[in-house]
Amino acid sequence: MLWKSVAALSTLAVTALGFKNPLKDFNGSDPQMQYWNGNYYLLTTTWTHIAITTSPTLEGLKTAEPKMVHSSDDPSRCCNLWAPELHYIDGNWRIYYTAGTNGTFDNQFTHVLKGGQDPLDTYEYEDRVVMTGRDVWAIDSTILQMDYGNFLIYSSWDPNTPPPPGKADDRDQCLYIANMTSPTTVGRSVKISAPTYDWETVGTRVNEGAAPLYHGGRTFLSYSAAGCAGGEYKLGLLELVGGNPMNACDWKKYPEPVFSANKEDGVYAPGHNANFYSPDGKETWNVYHAI
Ligand SMILES: *[C@@H]1O[C@H](CO)[C@@H](O)[C@H](O)[C@H]1NC(C)=O
Ligand SMILES: *[C@@H]1O[C@H](CO)[C@@H](O)[C@H](O)[C@H]1NC(C)=O
Ligand SMILES: *[C@@H]1O[C@H](CO)[C@@H](O)[C@H](O)[C@H]1NC(C)=O
Repeated sequence: MLWKSVAALSTLAVTALGFKNPLKDFNGSDPQMQYWNGNYYLLTTTWTHIAITTSPTLEGLKTAEPKMVHSSDDPSRCCNLWAPELHYIDGNWRIYYTAGTNGTFDNQFTHVLKGGQDPLDTYEYEDRVVMTGRDVWAIDSTILQMDYGNFLIYSSWDPNTPPPPGKADDRDQCLYIANMTSPTTVGRSVKISAPTYDWETVGTRVNEGAAPLYHGGRTFLSYSAAGCAGGEYKLGLLELVGGNPMNACDWKKYPEPVFSANKEDGVYAPGHNANFYSPDGKETWNVYHAI
């Protein structure tokens, strides 16, 4: 294991670390967390709006009142708000999230809110990220920050992979990367991971919810694999082993999941995850949605 874990929604009990899981009994899906200047900032899916929960301690996140920072009546992005992520990009805090139209998940795209110098400053709607040459369904966006630039990583259907026989709707949901040319614009996308191993294709064939992990000079992406509705959700790991994140061959996928359910120990199936760092920057922690 590369990291310690915090379940956003599970019965896992960890008392030795100054808090007891879960952090949230409800409304804890798709968590992402940042530690900045004395506080943890936690974002989770609410479906209707974007909110940030702030506390100087992990335990304090359980009772802190979430602060709503965004909701919208615009029919193109009013609804199904999920997987919000807080990132400091180009001199401002920004929130990248998925949203779409009422009553369907077919119009889910990546949107950006622009904040200020403090994560709780006012946020304004900035734009939708339009994928160059590939303006399709794009969910669960995150930002990989390298010395030489930022990269958007998102999950989308692969139109080029034929569905299995007799399952016309069962398309592969894959991870894509696109070079960011500004906080809201990207160049062309490249597919870096498809659900290929058996453990990535239980229920549905899915790779989604990628989360950058920087550790000991190495760069990884932990991501969710398989169907999100059951106990088969798992975390897989990709490592950037070459010098160009836009080159699919420069990413190595580990053949076994790095985190999965352990029913005997009461560990629920880990879904959508994010990595964050301890106040002294020495420890890497993982926050995940437990099912
Ligand atoms: C979960 O979120 C919804 C929508 O924001 C809210 O109405 C509800 O009270 C929340 N539930 C809990 C247990 O916090
Ligand atoms: C979405 O549609 C439902 C059902 O028609 C309606 O009750 C709800 O108010 C709508 N929500 C928004 C945000 O438009
Ligand atoms: C990203 O895109 C910009 C603009 O097209 C280009 O100048 C730059 O070399 C690209 N960087 C990488 C790492 O691909």
